Amino acid sequence: MKVLVTGGAGYIGSTTAKALEQAGHTPVILDSLAYGSRVFVKNRIFYEGDIADRALLRRIVEEHPDIYCTIHMAARTVVPESVEKPFEYYRDHVCKSLELFDELVLLGKPRVLFSSSASVYAMVKDFEVEEGSPLDPRSPYARTKRMTEMVLEDMAAATALRAIILRYFNPIGADPDLESGVHVREPSHVLGQLVMAAQGLKDLFTITGTEHPTRDGTGIRDYIHVWDLAQAHVAAVERFDDVLASVGALSTVINVGTGDGITVRELVEAFQKVYGKPLAVREAPPRPGDAVGAFANVDKARDVLGWRASLTIEDAIASALAWGRKRNDVLGYE
Ligand SMILES: NC(=O)c1ccc[n+]([C@@H]2O[C@H](COP(=O)([O-])OP(=O)(O)OC[C@H]3O[C@@H](n4cnc5c(N)ncnc54)[C@H](O)[C@@H]3O)[C@@H](O)[C@H]2O)c1
Repeated sequence: MKVLVTGGAGYIGSTTAKALEQAGHTPVILDSLAYGSRVFVKNRIFYEGDIADRALLRRIVEEHPDIYCTIHMAARTVVPESVEKPFEYYRDHVCKSLELFDELVLLGKPRVLFSSSASVYAMVKDFEVEEGSPLDPRSPYARTKRMTEMVLEDMAAATALRAIILRYFNPIGADPDLESGVHVREPSHVLGQLVMAAQGLKDLFTITGTEHPTRDGTGIRDYIHVWDLAQAHVAAVERFDDVLASVGALSTVINVGTGDGITVRELVEAFQKVYGKPLAVREAPPRPGDAVGAFANVDKARDVLGWRASLTIEDAIASALAWGRKRNDVLGYE
């Protein structure tokens, strides 16, 4: 199958493109390269441009009339930046996605898989969220994700559009061949910070927030190996119509996580085991807006996608460490 992947020059998009190729499919990448890397689209069908460029979308479909579905991943991804730049986040995520979805319907390409986020969920007492759990998107980033979900739901009800909304938990690790991975120069997420501390690029690792209502006071997350996440997309593409038929709906939401919650202290411990040496760790108060966290109930992913995460947290940490050693060469960073 041919699959249009918006944002396919990014971290998750390039890994998903490789997983699609390994399953015998052909990704067609559309990316503005605003954040992604040209290196990640090497040897792939690639269109450089914006998701809201309707003329470009028409050209892509003209040149690839056999596109079966679209995976819409293109986005801005920095939560604190979304607080400072709400206009850019609402415009790029909501307005531009509207143009994309409308044009795809006009072009007769109505199947859309959308990258949403666990950040749309409200905190629940035991931290385990299922797709019907209460929502409380707390940043402009999360609100644009929820709004785009609603756009898809409303358009599916009124037009030929059909949507599978994947709510990702916390992707970590890199592609198994170390050809792609996290590309931002200074990753702000917890595993990126740990890798930087291990490489001596930071003196110590700071645990922010130690008085949360979790088992050890630190935030809880569901870290999923990006390769497992990529495989979930392959399953969703291959079963697209069956998924919607099995739930009896025109659009549906599916959590994509491991089903295990890990606290920051537990992650640091696992990291030190894989790394083989202790790291200097300090504790600090939470940063403004830090969420306590959640982990996924993954029953629906198992039942309708026939998919489960199979890699361990240790696999993901080893992969992130290996990518950390190689990424400057791959990306041409100093
Ligand atoms: N990384 C995470 O922790 C995480 C968690 C949950 C959801 N997501 C979602 O997954 C998707 C992929 O995230 P990622 O981590 O790979 O980010 P990324 O920045 O590596 O990739 C996003 C890609 O989209 C491209 N892009 C942005 N705006 C565009 C536009 N208007 N037109 C064309 N291309 C555009 C960028 O150039 C980039 O290559 C995003 O939708 C993100 O919100 C990511």
